[in-house]
Amino acid sequence: MCGIVGYTGGRAAAQVLLSGLKRLEYRGYDSSGIALISRKRLRCWKSAGKLQELENLLPENPAGHCGIGHTRWATHGKPSTENAHPHLDTEATTAIVHNGIIENAVMLREMLQARGVVLQSETDSEVLAHLIAAADGQTLQERVRQCLMQVRGAWGVVVSSTTEPDTLIAARNGSPVIIGIGDGEMFVASDASALVRYTRQVVHLDDGEVAVVRPDGFEVTALDAKPMTKTAITIEAGHEDYDRGGYKHFMRKEIDEQPEAVARTLSGRLDERFNTAHLGGLNLSARELLDIRRIKILGCGSAYYAGISGAGMIETLARIPASAEPAAEFRYRNPVIESDTLYIVVSQSGETFDTLAALREVRRKGGRVLGIVNAVGSTIAREVDGGVYMHAGPEISVASTKVYTCMNVVFALLALHLGRVRDMSPQHGRKMIEGLQALPELIEQALADDDHIASVARHYATCESAFFIGRAAAWPAALEGAQKLKEISYLHAEAYPSSELKHGPLALVDENMPTVAIVPDDDLLEKSLASIEEVAARSGPVIAVTNSDDQRVIKLASHVLQAPAAHFLLGPLLLGIPLQLFAYHCAIARGLDVDQPRNLAKSVTVE
Ligand code: F6R
Repeated sequence: MCGIVGYTGGRAAAQVLLSGLKRLEYRGYDSSGIALISRKRLRCWKSAGKLQELENLLPENPAGHCGIGHTRWATHGKPSTENAHPHLDTEATTAIVHNGIIENAVMLREMLQARGVVLQSETDSEVLAHLIAAADGQTLQERVRQCLMQVRGAWGVVVSSTTEPDTLIAARNGSPVIIGIGDGEMFVASDASALVRYTRQVVHLDDGEVAVVRPDGFEVTALDAKPMTKTAITIEAGHEDYDRGGYKHFMRKEIDEQPEAVARTLSGRLDERFNTAHLGGLNLSARELLDIRRIKILGCGSAYYAGISGAGMIETLARIPASAEPAAEFRYRNPVIESDTLYIVVSQSGETFDTLAALREVRRKGGRVLGIVNAVGSTIAREVDGGVYMHAGPEISVASTKVYTCMNVVFALLALHLGRVRDMSPQHGRKMIEGLQALPELIEQALADDDHIASVARHYATCESAFFIGRAAAWPAALEGAQKLKEISYLHAEAYPSSELKHGPLALVDENMPTVAIVPDDDLLEKSLASIEEVAARSGPVIAVTNSDDQRVIKLASHVLQAPAAHFLLGPLLLGIPLQLFAYHCAIARGLDVDQPRNLAKSVTVE
């Protein structure tokens, strides 16, 4: 997805913009550009391809202390230099960078062309630069507001103009914009990662807001010029958290960070006195929790799979009917919203459009929504009625690993909390607490099997397809395992509940179709063994991913990826670790770009 950076202050703006754009590379992009204001002149450099191409175009130490930069992920118009941002008006007085979609761009382009404006690109965004330059407001802020009143759609936009050479105007409607507060300098970005190197004090704009940003401060108004009060928050992560830190890939670094990430998710939340979990941000009393009759969990992709796993944990520990659904499907089927249902949205970025839209739909109909979110201060985190932060730290790799694990840990905490408000005994609660406390160490042990997992991955890296199967609590683990393999190794992988194999997919099993079987050491072990047998009997190779030491698993499977024993509810979560490493090593063996898989973006802020 596209990325935005803006700077105004005493430094050489080009350096700040480039370092910010480099931080945004992980989001995926196909072209980039920067515009600088120097001596009341606007200069712009743009290039298709990687940032290095843009750097090659720049003169040494380009002058300018105020400017904007952009990495583009093509939606309207092919990836090319012309379509790259910034876009300028005809007289080169105004430059804009834009994330989002201008829905009435065709009409606006025709209107501008009728006035004799020659548009330089095929993008929907370019109209903004021409409309702002042509508006008749006294100040740049007024002109931007006038322009935004004419457009329909979604925007995170930053504007720079020769008429106010040290001012940036930033506006948001549906696409994130953050203002970074420095000492005599200010920053704007679409993602905190672009500015943490310079400041950790940030303000998030809300939809419909416009900010005037100058080196000595900022002010925010609504589109109708009404002043808005904003509060700055401090970003937890330091800039080193956004570095690869000696690792070749962010994904690998994030897989290895899981013991500390899980320890942070648990920190201060286990209440050993009452054998429960303490979750301060829920904003629900014990009485209100007792009144909940149903739980519906909404998320996309891996967050949805974590939701399936969470629903299982909640039903098991709290005996509340719970289910998960992809957020977009939920929204579009005009769901019935019930006052005694608790809705939970799950998101790493807190910016996923489909999840945000589902959250808004539920709240519009009067439902109560909790959030399980990683990115502090993100839109979803700000719009929910209460919730739990994961504290997993920044996740840069497109393929989610540590955050998927931490989502599961938050669900385990929530299930414990809800269970202890209801029928769960203190003894049961104590066992769950011990299980959670053991997790960081158990994950460490699971990670130690890396070499073996790499050799098994190399063995299967050339196959074309794979099944992933699991029963009950292991099914979401199978879904997530297949998802990881698809995303980064481009192997076709399909997940099924184990019981479904014989209802169709078994027809595909032969010696060329491996099946990854998730076999936790739980009450369903015998049933899981039966499924493996079904596959082995058809000469299908089986990779058993297990924390059971049952010899029958070892006998039946072609390869075994072993994880340590754990509390029965946390076993599937732990089995996710070998699955992550398996996908990672398959992708490496196939020589693929693990951190930036084709066609995918880290946070999907469009529909
Ligand atoms: C998979 C992956 C995606 C995300 C999904 C939701 O590895 O990363 O499937 O889980 O796009 O993103 P968030 O959690 O940011 O809402």
